[in-house]
Amino acid sequence: MQWNVVTALALLAHYVSAGPAFMRFACNQLLVERSDPLGSPGISPSPHLHQIVGGNAFDISMDPKWDLSAKSTCTSCTFTEDTSNYWTAVMYFRSRNGTMKRVPQMANAGLNGQNGGMTIYYIAPYDGKTNVTAFRPGFRMIVGKPGARSDVAKDRGVLGLSFRCFDNDGYGGAPGTGKDTRHFPKKTCSQGIRANIYFPTCWDGKNLDSPDHQSHVAYPADGNGNRGGACPASHPVRIPQLFMETMWDTRQFNNKAEWPADGSQPFVFTTGDPTGYGQHADYVFGWKGDALQRAMNAGCGVSCPTLKTQSMAQANACQQKKRLTESYEGWVPALPGNNPIR
Ligand SMILES: *[C@@H]1O[C@H](CO)[C@@H](O)[C@H](O)[C@H]1NC(C)=O
Ligand SMILES: *[C@@H]1O[C@H](CO)[C@@H](O)[C@H](O)[C@H]1NC(C)=O
Repeated sequence: MQWNVVTALALLAHYVSAGPAFMRFACNQLLVERSDPLGSPGISPSPHLHQIVGGNAFDISMDPKWDLSAKSTCTSCTFTEDTSNYWTAVMYFRSRNGTMKRVPQMANAGLNGQNGGMTIYYIAPYDGKTNVTAFRPGFRMIVGKPGARSDVAKDRGVLGLSFRCFDNDGYGGAPGTGKDTRHFPKKTCSQGIRANIYFPTCWDGKNLDSPDHQSHVAYPADGNGNRGGACPASHPVRIPQLFMETMWDTRQFNNKAEWPADGSQPFVFTTGDPTGYGQHADYVFGWKGDALQRAMNAGCGVSCPTLKTQSMAQANACQQKKRLTESYEGWVPALPGNNPIR
């Protein structure tokens, strides 16, 4: 990244003064594997390849009764009391000759030394007054629709999902400036592509999960996925807004001679999605005790003295050994699991 810490911090200070306080921290790569304890629990290999961050109690199925902070011996996140797991599908580049390669991730602005993974945010409260109720043990949710291949923007399940093309005009700030698209960028992005994923902010107050992992949460009734409108009556409890960014390092794939001859964009998700509309993410809550509630009540920002932090090197050292022997590196003839692209 060309962004030095000073620039990044200036940008962050700008965000903080322009909007709500938010916690922002790195969760580095824990594992890249075909494992999916919410989408296909117990199935190994799972149908799609994922990149996973957080506590090392992650497993191919995860009992909601588990105390992840007790089961984890380390976390790849900066805040050591966060042993939650967060994961998304992985992005691949499809060359003109049909062979494919995994797109690596890179550090986000201000998070130098981060080994891939994601940037995690917890945002609350938007108005600086309303309290939020932190997630409880056993809480989990998915945002987005892996099967979506068109812009179903009226469906609240995808409102908070977009991409930012990092071009020569630079970092460009937070999502929502009009520069973001719900589909993969259609041009080369000289500095990479950032995926922006906002989870819903309203909870039914009863269910820690639901059969589709989505119906127990909702976006505010005003339909604005990343703002703080009123919660619908069906989901009255305001929860922190979980927001994730993944910095996909597409820089090695910017040679147009390797792009499809018709000029269309070459990236696909491991779900077989060549559009980006099927972007989605999974969350299993795993904060220790009341740490997240404490941080929310304290109005934590980039620094959060009420939480324990570890160095980037310590966070990077928390990695999980792959359960599977299959490799995801180098040029390959097809997506993992031979997923058709469609
Ligand atoms: C296919 O294209 C990629 C990238 O352009 C290249 O590295 C690879 O060697 C090619 N494979 C074949 C079989 O031509
Ligand atoms: C919100 O949280 C703060 C900090 O815990 C507390 O002092 C305050 O009473 C809470 N407000 C409401 C309306 O519950």
